[in-house]
Amino acid sequence: MSDLLDAGERLGRDELAALQLERLRATLRHVYEHVPFYRQSFDKAGVRPEDCGSLADLARFPFTVKADLREQYPFGMFAVDQSEIRRLHASSGTTGRPTVVGYTERDLDTWADVVARSLRAAGARPGHTVHVAYGYGLFTGGLGAHYGAERLGCTVIPASGGMTARQVQLIQDLRPEIIMITPSYMLTLLDEFERQGVDPRGTSLKVGVFGAEPWTEEMRREIEERFAIDAVDIYGLSEVMGPGVAQECVETKDGLHIWEDHFYPEIVDPITGEVLPDGAEGELVFTSLTKEAMPVVRYRTRDLTRLLPGTARVFRRMEKVTGRSDDMVILRGVNLFPTQIEEIVLRTPAVAPHFQLRLTKEGRLDALTVRAEARPDASPEQRADAARTIAAAVKDGIGVSVAVEVVDPETLERSVGKIKRIVDLRREH
Ligand code: DLL
Repeated sequence: MSDLLDAGERLGRDELAALQLERLRATLRHVYEHVPFYRQSFDKAGVRPEDCGSLADLARFPFTVKADLREQYPFGMFAVDQSEIRRLHASSGTTGRPTVVGYTERDLDTWADVVARSLRAAGARPGHTVHVAYGYGLFTGGLGAHYGAERLGCTVIPASGGMTARQVQLIQDLRPEIIMITPSYMLTLLDEFERQGVDPRGTSLKVGVFGAEPWTEEMRREIEERFAIDAVDIYGLSEVMGPGVAQECVETKDGLHIWEDHFYPEIVDPITGEVLPDGAEGELVFTSLTKEAMPVVRYRTRDLTRLLPGTARVFRRMEKVTGRSDDMVILRGVNLFPTQIEEIVLRTPAVAPHFQLRLTKEGRLDALTVRAEARPDASPEQRADAARTIAAAVKDGIGVSVAVEVVDPETLERSVGKIKRIVDLRREH
């Protein structure tokens, strides 16, 4: 295995720390000199790039949040001349302006390298064929995956998202070993395999590289079992780069190694912003170490996880993301994440792995209804039983009462990319 590792992956922990500090100091200088936003925010906090003498000193620097990026729309966060920018991507965001991100030629090169490294950790090898079903376009998923797979020496099928019947056809005819896709869209493909009478366990696929949305161990088991593949997790976000910030190794499946030679992670208390020790759960924060066009300093991802020591790689791991703080539902004082419901629904025999959370108002209180889809062969008694089981598991495990509706097969909307689990109907009441 070690002969397959690149130079960054072969560093020792001390060498890595030295490299991180050198790159961090260069990044802080670069943004202070070239991005008025950072100069002002550092000046306001009374810190200068020279004040960073150790990795721990990073905690003295101010955070950057999504709203800062939006205010600098479109190019205010760029640290290089417009002529150096080779590509733009954008994240749509649910409200207001999108966030635009830019890449220099070297940034695109780094990105392809980290995605190639991710794919290798997932078990892909030069000569494999990679089916990319992440959307191509302004979303970073498709093109990010694409150039990384090419960099590794793979053949790429740039399928993008949608046209599900054709995806099944392509997989059968072109015989890819690897698929890169959101876990929720993989379930949509599963339905389509079954509709076409094709055995999903009999394809050429060996590994699925799933990300762009939270998913659970229960979902991993479901996908691995139904497709007879290994399912591994890939993480990333446009503001930091795109897919390929962290990746789970297929041989251990124990959380995602963060490519720490390029992206420096911290975990902070989401309320106070205090830096938490490794092992503690909190909000993931990233500082880019090698980006030129749009470096980020202490960018608050709003994703909740914890940092763990390295195993299959020298780099620290992040645990599977529980959810985004924005997706947290607060029901009568109890915090609830869609992933917690996913765990319960996927453990319940008579229901399919499709569910939706509907938020409504009952008087002055918020109420949540879990809609789960019955499996086609479930009897009315099994459906009623499943509804009771789910409600009881939510009550026991999370500590709050929810309504549960088990609806007919194929009635919930299917995902073609990132799934939206929560339907918020509170405004309409
Ligand atoms: O979703 C980049 C990506 C594409 C990652 C393909 C992996 C695969 P954005 O659209 O900017 O970028 O959304 C980033 O998606 O902050 C997380 O909330 C969520 N997310 C991404 N990967 C995972 C994952 C892409 N593996 C946001 N697990 C992030 C949980 C994830 N959440």
